[in-house]
Amino acid sequence: MTTNENKGTAVITGASAGIGKIYAQRLAKRGYDLILVARRANLLEEVATSIRADFSVKVKTVVADLAIGADLDAVADLFSNDDSISLLVNNAGTSTLGSLTAVKQAEVDAMTGLNIGALVRLSLAALLAFKSRDKGTIINIGSVLGFHTLPISSIYSGTKGFVNNFTRGLQDEVAETNVKVQLVLPAATATDIWPLSGVPISALDPNTVMDAEHMVDAALAGLDQGETITLPSVEDHQLFAEYDAARLKLLLASQSSKSASRYAAGK
Ligand SMILES: NC(=O)c1ccc[n+]([C@@H]2O[C@H](COP(=O)([O-])OP(=O)(O)OC[C@H]3O[C@@H](n4cnc5c(N)ncnc54)[C@H](OP(=O)(O)O)[C@@H]3O)[C@@H](O)[C@H]2O)c1
Repeated sequence: MTTNENKGTAVITGASAGIGKIYAQRLAKRGYDLILVARRANLLEEVATSIRADFSVKVKTVVADLAIGADLDAVADLFSNDDSISLLVNNAGTSTLGSLTAVKQAEVDAMTGLNIGALVRLSLAALLAFKSRDKGTIINIGSVLGFHTLPISSIYSGTKGFVNNFTRGLQDEVAETNVKVQLVLPAATATDIWPLSGVPISALDPNTVMDAEHMVDAALAGLDQGETITLPSVEDHQLFAEYDAARLKLLLASQSSKSASRYAAGK
């Protein structure tokens, strides 16, 4: 079923697989035309073909490696050239899990380049276009590993911590406008990112892993409910409010001209 309302066009990065592919299907069902971005042309075309068969929406594919400057420029330019674009899902991401000394420099560069560099660049391109029309939505896919780190996730967690803080800053920037920015914080979700990261999904407790369909459906329900931060797998929503209140309390407690008394002993 497709809605008749003109929703405009959604740009979805990392739409060839996993979470991005499900966003593409769900947003097509909601009536969005689509621009699907990823590196693997054959998979992108498969996703596009199946969506065209199921829904009366237009689907374009853009083959781009978002860790490469020229490709990223071309995708960023879409936002100034196509004023039908009303939604960006900044989803493409990559992970190599391992200690810092074990992870290769190229893998570090891939994580920082894609998870941070491309996300910032495309957020900026979308923000400029959306602010000029005072309309549009940016969905940034962070992670619960943005507020936690493991001995094998210092780079990945670092990139997602960036996404979390960056996106919250953007939300403050657009607070007085009609532009919406949603931060989605998935926990473990059953996609290829796990085997690609070096950890098979079979190594995880199945009770802690959500499928991508449920993750995306919950994230879109959160968007519909006006949430700015959505934690699809967290039953007790109050936990995040408490976490955030503690974070703010700590920040306020840090605003002092005096050092803490426990550091005065050595004077
Ligand atoms: N799965 C989880 O447990 C989980 C949890 C929290 C957050 N997340 C986040 O969710 C997002 C989606 O991940 P996923 O789990 O769906 O992973 P995935 O199944 O591995 O999909 C990643 C997508 O990103 C694309 N991509 C990777 N490198 C790219 C590049 N250099 N340029 C353009 N596209 C690129 C891939 O397509 P190509 O290979 O065709 O380019 C693919 O479509 C990521 O930001 C991830 O960090 C995932």
